[in-house]
Amino acid sequence: MVSEIFEFLGSLHPLIVHLPIGFIILTLLINVVFKTRNNSVKRLITLGWFFSFISGFIASIFGWFLGDNNYYLESQINIHKWTGFAFVIITFLIWMLRALNFNLSKSFNRISNLVVFALISITGHFGGEMTHGKGYLVKSIPFLKQNKMPTVLLTEKENSLDSIYVYENLIYPVFEEKCIVCHNKKDTYGGLNMDTYDNLIKGGNNGLGISKGNPYKSLIYKRVSMSQNEAKFMPPTGTPLSFDQVAVLKWWIDNGAKLKVPLTKLRNDENIRSLVEENYQLDLREKSYIETLKLAPVDQNQLEVLDKGKYQWRFLNSEKSLLDVKFVGKKITFNDIELLLKLKEHVIWLNLSNCQLKDDMLSLISEFENLTRLRVQKNNITDKCIPYLKDIDNLKELNFYDTLITDNSFEVLTNLESLEKIFLWKSKVSTLGIEKFKSQKPKIEVITGL
Ligand code: HEC
Repeated sequence: MVSEIFEFLGSLHPLIVHLPIGFIILTLLINVVFKTRNNSVKRLITLGWFFSFISGFIASIFGWFLGDNNYYLESQINIHKWTGFAFVIITFLIWMLRALNFNLSKSFNRISNLVVFALISITGHFGGEMTHGKGYLVKSIPFLKQNKMPTVLLTEKENSLDSIYVYENLIYPVFEEKCIVCHNKKDTYGGLNMDTYDNLIKGGNNGLGISKGNPYKSLIYKRVSMSQNEAKFMPPTGTPLSFDQVAVLKWWIDNGAKLKVPLTKLRNDENIRSLVEENYQLDLREKSYIETLKLAPVDQNQLEVLDKGKYQWRFLNSEKSLLDVKFVGKKITFNDIELLLKLKEHVIWLNLSNCQLKDDMLSLISEFENLTRLRVQKNNITDKCIPYLKDIDNLKELNFYDTLITDNSFEVLTNLESLEKIFLWKSKVSTLGIEKFKSQKPKIEVITGL
């Protein structure tokens, strides 16, 4: 009961402190403004010092109760505490001297006014920082306002998203800014040291800091997401975590709280993705294979090699480095494909449909390392050509419409890691074979025309 009363009085401190501030400013103002000192002005000033002293005295006692709950940093509280006490003592002395009618010299007056003004400013400043966070005042001065840029994680627009980690680059910096002053090797408030991943997981006196996969059992998450009015809310002083910081923390814990989760993992979750993109100016969308290809433009002379009667082509990008090539002759030969090899890295889409293609003509197809779409429909090709496809790593789309391939092809097709879409209509595969393939590769779109 007694400790609760102390706690209550302590909580009044931030309110009461405004009284001595008001009184002392008023007293100093009267001091400065009233040049003539008749008795009533003198008495008014003495009264002002008294009120400044007595309200400061009460505020400091309440402050003592508040500081006693240990929520504040020693380094911050010390200056505040001692300048606060100095203020009380000096206001007391000056009041006494005035009340006892000591003849105070003008310079004494000036100096003591200045000292008291300095003390109240310093005390107020550190008190404000403790309740509102570091740089609270400076932050809102209009012309000093630094443009608060979102943290930019990628200096260059390179594809290094995979080397940015959720814990290391998004979460730890927040802890470093808002928690680690109180939770480190030296100051382990609550027995909690947050300066390494392992210690963070381990937690403090009351158990696990992070329960992997379960934010609601993770003390770290609970403490930052509870109502700010609760005594256990963290951080106890300073700026709380922002909405997006809490959201990223929750996502990370939900997803296993692993030390090395690349940022790219966030992209599957629409909400968290847009939040992170917004805050860190990143584009987390998966780059298609084509977008990541950096090739020199196709040499015009090389294009001349292609017989216009047999091949048609167009560029897929404005840099003229990626080609969509179609065989338009009646009958293709091995030689025709060999010719195309001169452009092999540039061929992204290749259409060899309806041109009497033979199985073994595809033996060179894996040379086209950047091929993402291959159309070979309406040819009498069989399962024999399928193994030639297995080394084209980025093949996304295959068209075997109206060919002779059977269920035997599925073994190789299942292993094409990049495959997203396949046309099998009017081929010799069975409905059962397709069902099995679909169950093994549910993400691949199979077009059967049925
Ligand atoms: C100004 C100092 C201070 C700051 C800053 C601070 N804490 Fe605390 N923290 C404490 C004190 C004191 C305790 C012990 C009293 C309590 O449990 O509330 C504590 C306890 C905890 C506990 C409970 C540990 C246990 O097992 O009992 C967790 C979790 C925690 N803090 C998390 C955080 C997080 C997360 C942050 C940053 C967002 C943070 N703290 C920032 C002072 C601080």
